[in-house]
Amino acid sequence: MSKISAAITAVGGYVPDFVLTNKILETMVDTNDEWITSRTGIKERRILKGVNKGTSFLAIQAAKNLIQKNNLDPTTIDLVIVATATPDMKAASTAAFTASEIGASNAFAFDIDAACSSFLFGMSIVARYIESGIYKKILLIGADKNSSMISYDDRATCIIFGDGAGAVLFEPNTEGFGLQDEYLRSDGAGREFLRATHGGSSNAITEDSLKEQTHFVYQDGKTVFKNAVFNMADATEKILKRNDLDNDKIDWLVAHQANKRIIDATANRIQLDSKKVMMNIEKYGNTTSGTLPLLLSDYESQLKKGDNLIFAAFGGGFNWGSIYLTWGYDS
Ligand code: UT7
Repeated sequence: MSKISAAITAVGGYVPDFVLTNKILETMVDTNDEWITSRTGIKERRILKGVNKGTSFLAIQAAKNLIQKNNLDPTTIDLVIVATATPDMKAASTAAFTASEIGASNAFAFDIDAACSSFLFGMSIVARYIESGIYKKILLIGADKNSSMISYDDRATCIIFGDGAGAVLFEPNTEGFGLQDEYLRSDGAGREFLRATHGGSSNAITEDSLKEQTHFVYQDGKTVFKNAVFNMADATEKILKRNDLDNDKIDWLVAHQANKRIIDATANRIQLDSKKVMMNIEKYGNTTSGTLPLLLSDYESQLKKGDNLIFAAFGGGFNWGSIYLTWGYDS
């Protein structure tokens, strides 16, 4: 029997309507368009407005976009995974609600969280389920409503993040397309540098924590930046070497969109032409688990069967890594 690999067979995406531009941010915190653009490459990001709308709203829209574009019968989906750092609620799974709302009535569903590497690590989980031969259609959704955990008083953080989601369908492939190799790592020493201290099981929210806003995300930007540059580039280089890929053989770098300078540094390390680097950070900022699938959704029309894609991500934890995947269809 030929080897089964996990191939991507459809993608979808969704970003909310409200556009938070650098100009609007200038009226909220002490910043300016020139600083944000030159330090991060971001011009605007999307924010989900509306009462009771959480991450599942974004996930459902992205999944529906995939389902409609591909005439997919949702009852044929076996598993729905929502990769997110901002679940709707504690205890209740965002994925279970999402699966029901999209009509995936024969699926089981669960959430995974590895901060900005959630979608990347999710790809690894999906690959193992598909390779087992047990599951045939798995929907992996990367979705985050980052605006729910950001202080719009903190100029060092609020300028980076946005809300958004992307959905990707994986199916078994026996022609050699799909996930080929992965290099994934974590280092808990990093949690001091990117975290929300209160609101989890270690530290309950108190009157003082509310005043100090420590239930919002805090980041030591410089330290995160340095670690992201080193580790994303290092993981990418390792994947290339291990698979005997030089930059001529790579068609696309699909890198987490946190800061354009981090993405450029990764591309430079492997001397990749900027035309092969997927980039949409200027429109959406950092959507955490949404960045990789939103890139695929935006670039789908340019992807060709057999293209070699290198995924790379870095995020809180720290968690990071790189995945090599060959694209399985012409859109
Ligand atoms: O997905 C993973 C999550 N996060 C990341 O990957 C973030 C990684 N880090 C970064 O992207 C960058 O560190 C930032 C964009 C957050 C900050 O850029 P930076 O070039 O590292 O700036 P900095 O923190 O070194 O600050 C430089 C200066 C400081 O002023 P002084 O002390 O030199 O006078 C900051 O106070 O820029 C100031 N600054 C700002 N100025 C205008 C910080 N934020 C802003 C701002 N507007 N929004």
